[in-house]
Amino acid sequence: MALLPLYFFFLFLSVSSGEFSSQVGVNYGQLGNNLPSPKQSVKLIQSLGAKRVKIYDANHDILNALNGTNLQVCIMVPNEIINNISTSQKLADSWVETNVVPFYSTTKIRYLLVGNEVISGSPKDIWSNIVPAMRKIKKSLKTHGLDKIKVSTSMAMDVLESSFPPSNGTFRSDIADSIVRPLLQFLHRTKSFYFLDVYPYFAWVMDPKNINLEYALFESRTIKYTDPLSNLTYTNLFDQMVDSVVFAMKRLGYPDIRIWIAETGWPNAGDIDQIGANIYNAATYNRNVVKKLTAKPPIGTPARPGWVIPSLIFALYNENQKPGPGTERHFGLLYPNGTKIYGIDLSGKTPDSCFEPLPKPDNNEPYKGKIWCVAAKGVNETALSSALSYACSQGNRTCDPIQPGKKCFKPDSLFWHASYAFSSYWSQSRKTGATCYFNGLATQTAKDPSFGHCKFPSVSL
Ligand SMILES: *[C@@H]1O[C@H](CO)[C@@H](O)[C@H](O)[C@H]1NC(C)=O
Ligand SMILES: *[C@@H]1O[C@H](CO)[C@@H](O)[C@H](O)[C@H]1NC(C)=O
Ligand SMILES: *[C@@H]1O[C@H](CO)[C@@H](O)[C@H](O)[C@H]1NC(C)=O
Ligand SMILES: *[C@@H]1O[C@H](CO)[C@@H](O)[C@H](O)[C@H]1NC(C)=O
Ligand SMILES: *[C@@H]1O[C@H](CO)[C@@H](O)[C@H](O)[C@H]1NC(C)=O
Ligand SMILES: *[C@@H]1O[C@H](CO)[C@@H](O)[C@H](O)[C@H]1NC(C)=O
Ligand SMILES: *[C@@H]1O[C@H](CO)[C@@H](O)[C@H](O)[C@H]1NC(C)=O
Repeated sequence: MALLPLYFFFLFLSVSSGEFSSQVGVNYGQLGNNLPSPKQSVKLIQSLGAKRVKIYDANHDILNALNGTNLQVCIMVPNEIINNISTSQKLADSWVETNVVPFYSTTKIRYLLVGNEVISGSPKDIWSNIVPAMRKIKKSLKTHGLDKIKVSTSMAMDVLESSFPPSNGTFRSDIADSIVRPLLQFLHRTKSFYFLDVYPYFAWVMDPKNINLEYALFESRTIKYTDPLSNLTYTNLFDQMVDSVVFAMKRLGYPDIRIWIAETGWPNAGDIDQIGANIYNAATYNRNVVKKLTAKPPIGTPARPGWVIPSLIFALYNENQKPGPGTERHFGLLYPNGTKIYGIDLSGKTPDSCFEPLPKPDNNEPYKGKIWCVAAKGVNETALSSALSYACSQGNRTCDPIQPGKKCFKPDSLFWHASYAFSSYWSQSRKTGATCYFNGLATQTAKDPSFGHCKFPSVSL
């Protein structure tokens, strides 16, 4: 008789422990040279109402700063060491002994990702080693009695070859059998999660004419899309994207693997030639996705109504050292000085009406006009000089006009020559994917820098 209440007690414990609950956390990326210390960062994470945090390594300073907190922690084996770990149980053991065991008793490490978007961003020779490395890490954890820690890897949407309609979701044929099937088998056997990075923002920017912005921001009251094969009705782009992964897993014979949103978010700023990256949209998306993901009872998605979807917003900070277009450096909830960029409460408990009004968006339509790429103010001159040489070595006659005696030689300054070289290089190679960045030395401008007889090449949109 005494067993019954005890059983219910444990049931209650496991439900309330937050392991699989509808709580939202934040990704703590560190690619900035101006970010607060780990200790300050942990305080900021808690002040955002986050219940979980993910880091992109197993940084000991951060794990120490998390000591004694109630935050659930997800750590990561970096992509670079997957190959070696996949062939050496000894190396897996030593990684776990160094990075998990000393912290486990007082830090709630619950998830361990072996690699970050390996299939999207790392050399092919690593891909087939992901699962073997996961198996070795899992075995090491088991040896130390750390069965509670779920092992997985994170995947972006580009592992699908089709995601529309959602019921047509299909993994890419080059990886489906060799990599994804063993991965799903592992996740199923160990009751782990499929960790998904999902950005309606990126889907929308690729086709803003045909995808409604409000549908991407969870703001549309009227747009509904019914999948002709499943008959499921969608009211936002996020659900569509998540369900395409659900259907893709089902197609490989795994209909029940739970999805964990490892990253989602919306940029609060970007370059002039980037659409829809602003504070208004970022606040709207993140507030709405938090509302959805913290709802009680859980909402789930059309294919999985009522399912809990644990999740993490990307990211804690605007990170000034991330390469690529400007949006990459503007996914933060916080400026590097720790100030919120807009009102946000990851616990989902603050109603929108309690937040300050948002600045109106001014780039929800594509920019029309000319853009130049110039040297940023106050940058390192040694670095600028190398970037100038690099830009001039690319493309066709990129720097002819800044040679002595030519139209753009004067004023004879590094800043001026670099600005010309960046504009010239970028105008030639933007169509093949070049960005106006140069490790932070360059920036876009809509103001024509041309002077006198010297005309700067531009990009016309
Ligand atoms: C973590 O905090 C506890 C007290 O809560 C302390 O005893 C322990 O030494 C700390 N561990 C580390 C690794 O700092
Ligand atoms: C992997 O192992 C090889 C051979 O032991 C070693 O040379 C290499 O530095 C290791 N790579 C990394 C990233 O640790
Ligand atoms: C379904 O996906 C396949 C590729 O897996 C693609 O060829 C086909 O066009 C998709 N169907 C629709 C209706 O988009
Ligand atoms: C979808 O609805 C149509 C018409 O209402 C019906 O004929 C079809 O069987 C349904 N398909 C599924 C998969 O439920
Ligand atoms: C933090 O940085 C932002 C952006 O640079 C700035 O607008 C804000 O005033 C700063 N806040 C504090 C307290 O320094
Ligand atoms: C400037 O950049 C060069 C190389 O690009 C580097 O060696 C140097 O340390 C930098 N100087 C400062 C002050 O950051
Ligand atoms: C340079 O010129 C060649 C030949 O005209 C052309 O094929 C190539 O695409 C040009 N490169 C750039 C970066 O414009």
